[in-house]
Amino acid sequence: MNVYECVSSLSSVRNYTEGEVSDEIIMKVMESGRLSPSAHNSQPWEFVLIKDHGMLQEMRKYCTSGSFIAQVAFAVVLLVDPKSKWHQIDGTRAAQNMVLVGWSYGLGSCWIGRIEKEELKKYLGVPDELDVLTVLPFGYFDKRRVITEKFRKNPDEVFHLNGYGTRISR
Ligand SMILES: Cc1cc2nc3c(=O)[nH]c(=O)nc-3n(C[C@H](O)[C@H](O)[C@H](O)COP(=O)(O)O)c2cc1C
Repeated sequence: MNVYECVSSLSSVRNYTEGEVSDEIIMKVMESGRLSPSAHNSQPWEFVLIKDHGMLQEMRKYCTSGSFIAQVAFAVVLLVDPKSKWHQIDGTRAAQNMVLVGWSYGLGSCWIGRIEKEELKKYLGVPDELDVLTVLPFGYFDKRRVITEKFRKNPDEVFHLNGYGTRISR
């Protein structure tokens, strides 16, 4: 899968099938976060890998818009350091890299946006000075159940040529 194919086929996955993921693939996902670029190369992130199934079940309590966390093979809690000015942008780039690399290995994921962050931090023993950016679940999924249609604005609504106003359609 080339990068464009990966980006254009990527879809959020909210239903997972059972199946362990090898440590080799898990580490590829982790590495694609760690190797991401960041402003001033400040790398304002840390990654908590959760493989324990009991913990994934428990984390459902904190991931209030991502109950599917309970079904996945592993999850990564993405922590960012708010002292760094660009922490949210940097962290989001790391997250997207991890999701794309996971996808290229056949793993689904979905950004979990609504999280009881302070309670999750307490549960995982995260130091006060770090924030939870998101929790990314990863797991295999039934490809027949994924919506492949992209519900996106049309090119002529969002592309402009040589200044604002001249629309580009495909
Ligand atoms: C910042 C952000 C927060 C999101 N939060 C949630 C969430 O809490 N729960 C969920 O099921 N999906 C969440 N999503 C997934 C989006 O709903 C999804 O990316 C969007 O509808 C487009 O669908 P697609 O990813 O399948 O192309 C989130 C995505 C982003 C980028």
